[in-house]
Amino acid sequence: MKERVRRIFEGLEGSADALVLVNSADPHLDHSFFYLFDAPSGLFEGSAAVAFPDGRLHVLSSLLEEESARQAAREDPSVSVDTMSAPDDRRGWLARLLPPGGRIALNYRELTHEDYRAVEAAVPGGSFVDASAAVRRARMVKDSREIERLRRAAAVGSRVAEEIPSLLHRGMTETELASEIEYRMMRAGASGRSFATIVGFGRNGAEPHYAPQEVPLEPGVSLVCDFGAYYRRYASDITRSFHFGPTDPELKRVHECVEAAQQAGFDAVRAGVPGKEVHLAAQRVVDASPWKGRFIHGVGHSIGLSVHDGYGMSARTEEPLVTGMAITVEPGIYLPGHGGVRIEDDVLVTDGGLEHLTTARRSYLEVPA
Ligand code: GLY
Ligand code: MN
Ligand code: MN
Repeated sequence: MKERVRRIFEGLEGSADALVLVNSADPHLDHSFFYLFDAPSGLFEGSAAVAFPDGRLHVLSSLLEEESARQAAREDPSVSVDTMSAPDDRRGWLARLLPPGGRIALNYRELTHEDYRAVEAAVPGGSFVDASAAVRRARMVKDSREIERLRRAAAVGSRVAEEIPSLLHRGMTETELASEIEYRMMRAGASGRSFATIVGFGRNGAEPHYAPQEVPLEPGVSLVCDFGAYYRRYASDITRSFHFGPTDPELKRVHECVEAAQQAGFDAVRAGVPGKEVHLAAQRVVDASPWKGRFIHGVGHSIGLSVHDGYGMSARTEEPLVTGMAITVEPGIYLPGHGGVRIEDDVLVTDGGLEHLTTARRSYLEVPA
């Protein structure tokens, strides 16, 4: 992980003597800890990592993940691991590694205030700088190891998306379908879901971040399924919309419009293009349709160790796409009280365009009731 450490230090504004990453308790984990420390499994609650500009990484592991920590250290000679037997050990460990009065970089974005105070106490006279922007930029461009895991996470998402039509039956509930989706992702090799699965039947599909409930599936409604897998800590994020017969003629046309908007978004993806160009390409298609104004969110975001990995594309995003970024393209049209359609895929940004990571069928499909 030397290269990753080096990239973060290079991206800092000004210099720093060390970078410190601290995990609190789940869900307040710092995903960047795992960007530098590639332990195969585990939460590492209360653990810390100290990186130096020469690329060395010291990790203080909780005892609960000691085997995983030792395995990661065996595979990477720039990493050394200590274990703590009590939470109080961390302060002394940090004090031994960090120079008194040193300039310490911290990931403000994912550090709890309590842990900030704890690091401060371990470095008398120290000064602290925000490394969030440098960490975000380093994580945004994926290396080959990360891309391989993203491919695997995406393959799981695609496979389960292809299975959904065969699972639908009258009376099944949103929570039942969500549980099937999550079960099938793990059966296909995922270590878990990358975010809380969204399944919305009928009018519930009109709310982009809806949470599934015990609502039964009735003929004549459309449904939105948005889910993703974690594979070796890397996320996929895919949405498919289906239509449980008989067809609703308006939602069929909505589906075709969203598919065209997504294609326009894909066509705009290329290294060097400001993110807003991807959003506006999709938005123009919706704005030219009868559903102008019903595409109510940004067209996509980066994925990686988090499902929302630090970059988002809206009408105001000037920051350009870079080769090696993994992003979603996910336009939707939402008709309150009626239904919605969203289609979401994961792609890798390349010099000349993109490579598709998720590949499941996305065109209109009426599933017989
Ligand atoms: N699942 C939320 C999203 O697609 O961004
Ligand atoms: Mn999604
Ligand atoms: Mn998404």
